[in-house]
Amino acid sequence: MLPIFFDERLSEEKATDSMPGVSTFPLKGYDGIASGIQGSGVNSVLVFGVPSRKDARGSGAYAKDGVVQKAISGLKESSDLLVISDLCLCEYTDHGHCGVLDGSGRVKNDETLELYAKTAVSQAAAGADIIAPSGMMDGQVSAIRIALDDAGFEEVPIMAYSAKFFSAYYGPFRDVACSAPGHGDRAGYQMPCGNRKEAVREIALDVEEGADIIMVKPAGPYLDIVRDAADMFDLPLAAYQVSGEYAMIKAAARNGWIDEDRVMMESLLGIKRAGADIIITYYAKEAARKLM
Ligand code: PBG
Ligand code: ZN
Repeated sequence: MLPIFFDERLSEEKATDSMPGVSTFPLKGYDGIASGIQGSGVNSVLVFGVPSRKDARGSGAYAKDGVVQKAISGLKESSDLLVISDLCLCEYTDHGHCGVLDGSGRVKNDETLELYAKTAVSQAAAGADIIAPSGMMDGQVSAIRIALDDAGFEEVPIMAYSAKFFSAYYGPFRDVACSAPGHGDRAGYQMPCGNRKEAVREIALDVEEGADIIMVKPAGPYLDIVRDAADMFDLPLAAYQVSGEYAMIKAAARNGWIDEDRVMMESLLGIKRAGADIIITYYAKEAARKLM
């Protein structure tokens, strides 16, 4: 599965310094974008949006004509890609946090859930095949499940970012998505890196709440968690090789220090060997081409 970025401020494709080979796209040219992806043998994308305006409540995330809603319907109308929609507020809030804040700068969990529910329904209405909440709020999967069912989207599955760690490997992503928190960090809602048992508990909660696919993120530094999840849960398991994992391989390869193709395939094989059914990676096209 390939992550893909759309920015409503762009008029042409834009490269990313910290992630060579990863572009952000304008809201047009869906045919060409989709055929470039499908031509390499990849059939699913995880869509992120970058809005032109941000506010305290991330209202661009649940706007009917929001950037991600437009990107989803554009891709669905011009291809048969499976379109998975990332659901979070951090790309849409002016403070960069994944939810709304109280007066002292702490995320208000339950108020955020209401906005996630609205966002999920708007993404499904735009044609998303799967909704992927990544904000790590407590109760997000059940809140979204209830909202989708009420709106008649009972058949739209949820891919839950279940075990998402408080990781330094998300750095390059935040450059692309312009979503670095303006103050503070995400330690309050993402998981501490050293705690293996909490990861299992978080996944179990998502399963109870109705997740259809569970996810571990990042992938490479957390392969023990991937293996735990594969052994302990029956649901399809996704693992996300995140931006920092990709950027490190790219940087070393560009210096001539490693063989990029071999390290790419070895890193993905390790994730597969640990038990992932679905791998989300910025290398999706290159890897799929090698496997064709
Ligand atoms: C938004 C989100 C992030 C990523 C996926 N969804 C960033 C974050 O939590 O800071 C990271 C993906 C990557 O680094 O490739 N909540
Ligand atoms: Zn977020």
